[in-house]
Amino acid sequence: MKKSSIVGISGSLSVPSRTSVLVKQVLKALQHSTGHATQFLELSASADALFQSRSPKDLTGPARDFIDTIEQADLLVVGSPVYRASYTGALKHVFDLVDHRRFSNKPVVLTATGGTPLHGLMIDHQLRPLFGFLQALSLPTTLYAVETDFTNYEISNPELLDRIARVAAEASPYVKQHLSFGNGSLESQLAATA
Ligand SMILES: Cc1cc2nc3c(=O)[nH]c(=O)nc-3n(C[C@H](O)[C@H](O)[C@H](O)COP(=O)(O)O)c2cc1C
Repeated sequence: MKKSSIVGISGSLSVPSRTSVLVKQVLKALQHSTGHATQFLELSASADALFQSRSPKDLTGPARDFIDTIEQADLLVVGSPVYRASYTGALKHVFDLVDHRRFSNKPVVLTATGGTPLHGLMIDHQLRPLFGFLQALSLPTTLYAVETDFTNYEISNPELLDRIARVAAEASPYVKQHLSFGNGSLESQLAATA
């Protein structure tokens, strides 16, 4: 069985970032529930290289590695701050650069942070359709946190920590399933479009 790859990405370019803290906490819970190592991709560190790439053909070096890591993940944890009632343009740019054929049936945990609880449905109204386009398997339970859920950039709301543990438990079987069966339709899709 191949080594699993559980990868987290946050669409925030801020350092520090509450969204990155949330995604990292989900990775920690997934590491605990699956026993597999996880990896957080630091978007702020790779942003210059990624934004210089206007299309996948432009990707070289660290920017290519960044996109490869996302495409090859067995499970993705995606987070974004709410910006103007949507996910960030930075996150959209990353997913404009990926090969959509690599996402079929890939399990994805959706998370976001915002300034107001009123914008929590951004996840279902904006983020989930992006992964619907990619034919990924966005998991049912999502995570939304607001500034009062954090103290000094650490999660301090026990209810949010419980929900993170629930999300990790829900996601774990999908990691095992993806490891066993992989992306079954990928080879035929690649052949069909070659
Ligand atoms: C440009 C910009 C636009 C924002 N728009 C919204 C918004 O529409 N709704 C909302 O709830 N919060 C909004 N916020 C607040 C952020 O979503 C919130 O502070 C978030 O937790 C920041 O995440 P970060 O620490 O990972 O950067 C906005 C913040 C910025 C900088």
